[in-house]
Amino acid sequence: MLNKIRELIKNEADEADWKYHLVPVVKYAKKLAKAMNANEEVVELAALLHDIGRLRFGGENHNITGIPEAEKILKEHNAPQDVIDEVKHCIESHRGKKEIPPKTTISKIIANADAMAHFDILPAFFYWLSKKQTFEEAFRWIDSKIDRDWNRKLTLPEAREMMEEKYKAIKLVLKSNEEYM
Ligand SMILES: [Fe+2]
Ligand SMILES: [Fe+2]
Repeated sequence: MLNKIRELIKNEADEADWKYHLVPVVKYAKKLAKAMNANEEVVELAALLHDIGRLRFGGENHNITGIPEAEKILKEHNAPQDVIDEVKHCIESHRGKKEIPPKTTISKIIANADAMAHFDILPAFFYWLSKKQTFEEAFRWIDSKIDRDWNRKLTLPEAREMMEEKYKAIKLVLKSNEEYM
């Protein structure tokens, strides 16, 4: 089931979304699962499916629109009901801004991994955003996103420890550019 769902998501996501978001989210989710003794297969399924609403319908409310889509996919692959329920909760709780907080270990892992992925792909962020806005606007957006991730989404001590060095390095790099703005 995992291999089939991985292929399905890989085919559905555009190449950059797959390479620079979903792959790092899966990577960090599995690392956290190992560190916290969570079920790695369920964690990977949730990581693969957490943004299915965004892939299919766009970013708005994708924490809600993704729920029936993930349910459909998991049912088609004969996933047990408890796995379906866990993945649905991961989707509804994965965005830092929204009201439903992650309540289970696996949903905390997904929310943390979703933010951790950003720390690895800074140049891709600039590439994506510079198409829509000026460099300065992209810079401000990324700088505050990284801070939001660090201050609000990285709630697990394991995740903070894994990312602390990168967070500091990113802030250092951003600060040195700010001097010229
Ligand atoms: Fe998302
Ligand atoms: Fe995401």
